Amino acid sequence: MSSGFLSGSSLTAAVPLLLLVLVYKANARGCDFFTGTWVVDGSFPLYNASACPFIEREFSCQKNGRPDSLYTKYRWKPLFCNLQRFNGVDFLERFRGKSIMFVGDSLSRNQWQSLTCILHSSVPEAKYNLTRQGDVSIFAFPDYEVKVMLDRNVYLVDVARERIGRVLKLDSIEGSKLWNGIDMLIFNTWHWWNRRGPTQPWDYIQVGKEIKKDMDRMLAFEKALTTWAKWVDSNVDPAKTMVFFQGISPSHYNGREWNETKSTCNGQTQPINGSSYPGGPPPAAAVVRDVLRNMKVAVTLLDVTALSQLRKDGHPSIYGSDGKVGNDCSHWCLAGVPDTWNELLYATLISQGKAMN
Ligand SMILES: *[C@@H]1O[C@H](CO)[C@@H](O)[C@H](O)[C@H]1NC(C)=O
Ligand SMILES: *[C@@H]1O[C@H](CO)[C@@H](O)[C@H](O)[C@H]1NC(C)=O
Ligand SMILES: *[C@@H]1O[C@H](CO)[C@@H](O)[C@H](O)[C@H]1NC(C)=O
Ligand SMILES: *[C@@H]1O[C@H](CO)[C@@H](O)[C@H](O)[C@H]1NC(C)=O
Repeated sequence: MSSGFLSGSSLTAAVPLLLLVLVYKANARGCDFFTGTWVVDGSFPLYNASACPFIEREFSCQKNGRPDSLYTKYRWKPLFCNLQRFNGVDFLERFRGKSIMFVGDSLSRNQWQSLTCILHSSVPEAKYNLTRQGDVSIFAFPDYEVKVMLDRNVYLVDVARERIGRVLKLDSIEGSKLWNGIDMLIFNTWHWWNRRGPTQPWDYIQVGKEIKKDMDRMLAFEKALTTWAKWVDSNVDPAKTMVFFQGISPSHYNGREWNETKSTCNGQTQPINGSSYPGGPPPAAAVVRDVLRNMKVAVTLLDVTALSQLRKDGHPSIYGSDGKVGNDCSHWCLAGVPDTWNELLYATLISQGKAMN
């Protein structure tokens, strides 16, 4: 009998101790920015979207007639700390004379547009110059000598035109020529890996010397990421260049993932409460983690997946173009969720003490 009493009492003593240890560990590492909840904050959004003249139509939800605006008012609250509010002037000073480049698909474009809007709204009087050279869009702040660029490259590895047709080459990464000498790189790829039919931009897939009509797409994704990782490991000097990987950005086409069988993102006006997504993580996120874990150069995972999964309310849905057409549950309205991705980028820079000089 007494042994039962003893083990009971040691258990009650252990629980608060365990909690203390968990809190201590989280703080000792700085704070896990990526686990938290969304809270309404009247001081959001970070900028007035109608005062940001270069937001593209597909992200301009309010202009396209989206009637609700609560989705612009959420702040991401990590469990054990608060994110510092984005200070655009401080960001520009840290990057004076430097270049930043997002590389990837339209989710990179989403984050790039968010960052340029945040920065422009912090220094509305400062000149800016938006130009394009081939696949690279360049947003420059001449007064700060800062360039914020976007290289559209949906697979990171190459698609080459050959005699047999367009070949997706999992071992070839010639597009990397554009990434040399950039001070901060933020990569992403995933959304195009599952494309089939008329919007699939290749006819064959090549691994090593082998050319095939198709293969397991998750495996293809992993091989391409590994090619990219090798490029980073052998070409990036971590003393000169910071490298981020923007984690998998989730879509909300399937309400079963959040227990609303027939729903999509259309008509959603609130995030999911709490910190966990009922549908669990997308399988591609595990592939990203595995590849990053095996790299020599430390790449920071901007782990936007879980926090964005909670934001079923953040997509353009039928407000991605003029006049309620389509249903885009894959991109994000601006102002909106990608602003938080940039706040996390900023918080990571500050926590690593990066002055960039
Ligand atoms: C946002 O900007 C537009 C255009 O400059 C302006 O008309 C509007 O009043 C602004 N809204 C807020 C809330 O500041
Ligand atoms: C804008 O940038 C382009 C090239 O990126 C340059 O040729 C042009 O002179 C710039 N314009 C201004 C006004 O700074
Ligand atoms: C979703 O539904 C399942 C099965 O009906 C239930 O076990 C689970 O608790 C629900 N989750 C949420 C977040 O409502
Ligand atoms: C989420 O929490 C808010 C505030 O506590 C509450 O008003 C809302 O009904 C909750 N939503 C769901 C789906 O539980």
